[in-house]
Amino acid sequence: MIESLSQFNLILLGPPGAGKGTQAGRIVAEYGIPHISTGDILRAAVKNQTPMGLEAKRYMDAGELVPDSVVIGIVKDRLQEPDTAKGFLMDGFPRTIPQAEALDATLDGLDRAVTKTLVLLVDEELLVQRLTGRRVCRACQTPFHVLFTPPKQEGVCDKCGGELYQRDDDSEATVRNRLEVYRNQTEPLIDYYDRAGVVARIDGAQSPDRTYEDIRAALGPAEG
Ligand code: AP5
Ligand code: MG
Repeated sequence: MIESLSQFNLILLGPPGAGKGTQAGRIVAEYGIPHISTGDILRAAVKNQTPMGLEAKRYMDAGELVPDSVVIGIVKDRLQEPDTAKGFLMDGFPRTIPQAEALDATLDGLDRAVTKTLVLLVDEELLVQRLTGRRVCRACQTPFHVLFTPPKQEGVCDKCGGELYQRDDDSEATVRNRLEVYRNQTEPLIDYYDRAGVVARIDGAQSPDRTYEDIRAALGPAEG
């Protein structure tokens, strides 16, 4: 019984701009699980000028990772919330081996484990184009792109009518650093989850709809 409740303990892994946020919206809508984006949680803390936000901001603006202790604390707290009992979708976490080990230990303590790690694969030059043209909704965080996935009305979110803005870390220089940080610190997680036998590799260079079709095929039906 518990197994069927927690079969969608999911991780969305991929470089900056791979489409994690874009696909997360679709996955959580269909599978009925909460979207846990450490980037969104950190940006909310920056906006609210909490002590954690003030500490995180200098790392984020430079395209560096926020210290493991901070993000591991965020995720451990989030996994105490009752809505995660039926599963979850991690977006942007884990990003280092210590984060992955901490997640495994936390889930183990709850008699659970990661059931699938979806890895979105996209070439680096396309990632730079996606990120430098990205606009994000201030209210619901839905990502758009000025050329690839434009909103119906410029500057306005199709989903909730919120205002679109450009993220501080989407300048080309910061994007290049984020990609290097990904290669050095996060890409090794693909091997880590391969060893656990839970990886599904997805071609993220396709259209958002095609990419999502492949994700659905990898996850299987939402019922269970
Ligand atoms: P985070 O917010 O997680 O950013 P990221 O990993 O760099 O990823 P992005 O959000 O930039 O890209 P995405 O894959 O979500 O792409 P999207 O769907 O928007 O982290 C930000 C910072 O927070 C980090 O640098 C770090 O400082 C800190 N942080 C967060 N988590 C941390 C952790 N665990 N440990 C330490 N530090 C942490 O799409 C991108 C664009 O492409 C959009 O414009 C979209 O419209 C477009 N697009 C998407 N898919 C397609 C498609 N198929 N075709 C055409 N266009 C597309
Ligand atoms: Mg994102």
